[in-house]
Amino acid sequence: MNILVLGSGGREHTFAYKIAQSSLCEKLFVAPGNAGTANIATNVAISVTDFTAIKELVLKEKIEMVVVGPEDPLVQGITDFFAGDNDLKSISVIGPSKEGARLEGSKEYAKEFLIRHNIPTAAYQSFTANTVNEGKQFLETLKAPYVLKADGLAAGKGVLILQDIQEAKTELENMLTNKKFGAASEKVVIEEFLDGIELSVFVLTDGKNYVTLPTAKDYKRIGEGDTGLNTGGMGAISPVPFADKAFMSKIEEQIIKPTVEGLATENIDYKGFIFIGLIKVGDDPKVIEYNVRMGDPETEAVLPRVKTDLVSLFKHVSDQTLNQVEIEIDPRSATTVMAVSGGYPEAYEKGKEITGIDQISDSIVFQAGTKLEEDKVVTNGGRVIAVTSFDDDFREALKKSYHNIQKLHFDKIYYRKDLGFDL
Ligand code: AMP
Ligand code: GLY
Repeated sequence: MNILVLGSGGREHTFAYKIAQSSLCEKLFVAPGNAGTANIATNVAISVTDFTAIKELVLKEKIEMVVVGPEDPLVQGITDFFAGDNDLKSISVIGPSKEGARLEGSKEYAKEFLIRHNIPTAAYQSFTANTVNEGKQFLETLKAPYVLKADGLAAGKGVLILQDIQEAKTELENMLTNKKFGAASEKVVIEEFLDGIELSVFVLTDGKNYVTLPTAKDYKRIGEGDTGLNTGGMGAISPVPFADKAFMSKIEEQIIKPTVEGLATENIDYKGFIFIGLIKVGDDPKVIEYNVRMGDPETEAVLPRVKTDLVSLFKHVSDQTLNQVEIEIDPRSATTVMAVSGGYPEAYEKGKEITGIDQISDSIVFQAGTKLEEDKVVTNGGRVIAVTSFDDDFREALKKSYHNIQKLHFDKIYYRKDLGFDL
């Protein structure tokens, strides 16, 4: 069958890499894709939120499955767009309905869902411009640090963690009254701070059944020792060493099962990935967020470990037969290190020639912010290339990624050299 992947990052290159290996895939398209996906698929220069152009492409190329990488098209309702169109309704879309995507699109919606289904999470209250004074009073009842979250999508920047109560009150006012994050901060969730170590769990569900994919830990800050600004993610390690059997069974019983059952009992159409961000507080997992897609760069470490044919998994999602699947996972660790453009996550330059990709053989190179310029691969984003390696021991896998990333060259290349420091 012909398949379309939507997106242009390292996550989408990884999807394309796995899908291209499947005997079930005839022609593979990526929109808009990057220089890496161009090697294994046909890139089509259309935006992930241009549903009309996507429809035209799907009909022209007889595409039967669409795999949605990023959250924007999901939150904007691409799945409902397909389901509601006579020409498109038979096409499988891997990604939840607009209602399901609200788990990521609205922090308040996610919190209400968590509470309704008794899933452990931080205590919270939400506020609007009309209740900013109540919000300040609520802050008074909490202990530092204070966690403020813009309700809507804010490109990963909408969460503020502040030590000082005055600063927290000022930022609350900035978010609600001065729309610091635009419409996304018309509502703000104020949350109890959870003290512990983070990890992410990935689930693929058909709306009734699910398979649990490998866990991963990502490194969000730009600086070593988890310092400096937040980024999309500087690297990831899978599995997470401290997520042992006992802890995973708590996650399954207290979080994954009630999440999938909650979606089903609320009749929320959900065929896709659930990315659950957790903090381990003492011995217990608590949810800090849902995302309705895979993580990036977690995908670059998680999916290479999935041995089961990815397209067959997706077919089971469409047919709601995931209960028939025994997923096979590579027991080795996978690590991915992200090379970024100097200056990222603030201003950086694009268009720098990248060399050395073809020098790497014992790691997998997943391209992110890259594009082809004539026959050259050049930088085209903040996060540029992820280098994924395997080993029985994650420290050895990291060594391989670090050895190989040194073969890559572009002007002002930067990557963190301390991944795994906290494990
Ligand atoms: P989110 O966008 O909800 O994942 O939040 C971004 C980051 O803020 C998370 O990766 C955590 O590091 C941190 N964070 C979010 N909520 C909390 C919380 N309740 N307690 C402690 N840290 C949090
Ligand atoms: N790496 C975090 C995310 O994809 O949201």
